[in-house]
Amino acid sequence: MITLNSNFLKLQKNYLFVDIAQRVAKYKSENPDAPVIRLGIGDVTRPLAPAVIEALHKAVDEQAKSETFRGYGPEQGYDFLRQAIVDNVFQPRGVEIGIDEIFINDGAKSDTGNFGDILGRDNTVLITDPVYPVYIDSNVMAGRAGDFADGRWSNIAYAPCTAENNFTPALPTKAPDMIYLCYPNNPTGTVLRRQELQKWVDYALANDALILYDAAYAAYIRHDDVPRSIYEIPGAKKCAVEFHSYSKTAGFTGLRCGFTVVPKDVVARTATGEKVQLNPLWNRRQCTKFNGTPYVVQRAAAAIYTPEGKRQVQETIDYYMENARIMREALTEKGLKVFGGEDAPYIWFRVPEGMTSWEYWEELLHKYNIVSTPGVGFGPSGEGYIRLTAFGTREDCVEAMRRLREG
Ligand code: MLT
Repeated sequence: MITLNSNFLKLQKNYLFVDIAQRVAKYKSENPDAPVIRLGIGDVTRPLAPAVIEALHKAVDEQAKSETFRGYGPEQGYDFLRQAIVDNVFQPRGVEIGIDEIFINDGAKSDTGNFGDILGRDNTVLITDPVYPVYIDSNVMAGRAGDFADGRWSNIAYAPCTAENNFTPALPTKAPDMIYLCYPNNPTGTVLRRQELQKWVDYALANDALILYDAAYAAYIRHDDVPRSIYEIPGAKKCAVEFHSYSKTAGFTGLRCGFTVVPKDVVARTATGEKVQLNPLWNRRQCTKFNGTPYVVQRAAAAIYTPEGKRQVQETIDYYMENARIMREALTEKGLKVFGGEDAPYIWFRVPEGMTSWEYWEELLHKYNIVSTPGVGFGPSGEGYIRLTAFGTREDCVEAMRRLREG
């Protein structure tokens, strides 16, 4: 009889955002006229930049002619996009990344989940808490997480990030092998300053650990002392892989594209202690399991690095950050303790005294018709908090804040 990967049976019944979608669908079916505003999942609402649309049209037309038609592309991505990333993302910040250290993906979610494929099953894992659920779920699936009890996985180390420690995770006393960091942070919208991130890089180097650094929200950083990439930190090219996404940077949640950086200096050990580079191993994994992001989508992504693309994308980012400012202001006026939203498109706030995340989540839905995300859905240290996304329309954002102010 065929058996299954029983690790999948350990997963919680639903992925967080599926759970929320089901609860909202139930509420809508019972209250079909309720004017529900969705500020839960971080999905974008602004249309793609004109430069991106133009590039898409052009690439589609190329596919219509035999002289310009493209079939399978390189598994690592087309050089025109990889080179544009080197030139526009890393070189301006003084970071030397080779074109062959960049792997185009179909969004950061896939690769943050997939990267564990090339890492040993017995590695110990540390996550900051609260956390983007993909890091945990993918390690549960791989058999690294242990068992779930009282809101925690037995083999995962949790580094709490709450208002009490200014959302700055403390270095662990027992060194893990894999360290997941996401900055600007999803879900808290907070950041790590340069010197704080340097501590993690030094720690990883001293302990032969690997940092899996999710930089999906880097485009929202406003302050100069917040690094856009972990490779701005000396030593990081020896101990970190980095994940980027065009989803939030340029509205590609529907198109799907991003990139993963695997520097050639990053190594892991074999069971017998020999050091092996991760870059060729990841390349090998991709060549077997991934046939590349569609050509037209990669052309669309490259368009964000043209002068007009850069300007248009920045306008959209500014639009969302204005939403974030409006939300911060309104929630603060309401007397809530608000975090994030200054270098990130997420607002994280404490629920009123005496309520749990889920209780206030229900109140927001039932009383104000606002969909949010309960902090505890991201981990035990998220209890007592709510996340709102700044990716809604301006109208929805203003209306939601009006309801909260007046409610
Ligand atoms: C979120 O709401 O946390 C994100 O949209 C999820 C994602 O990017 O996959």
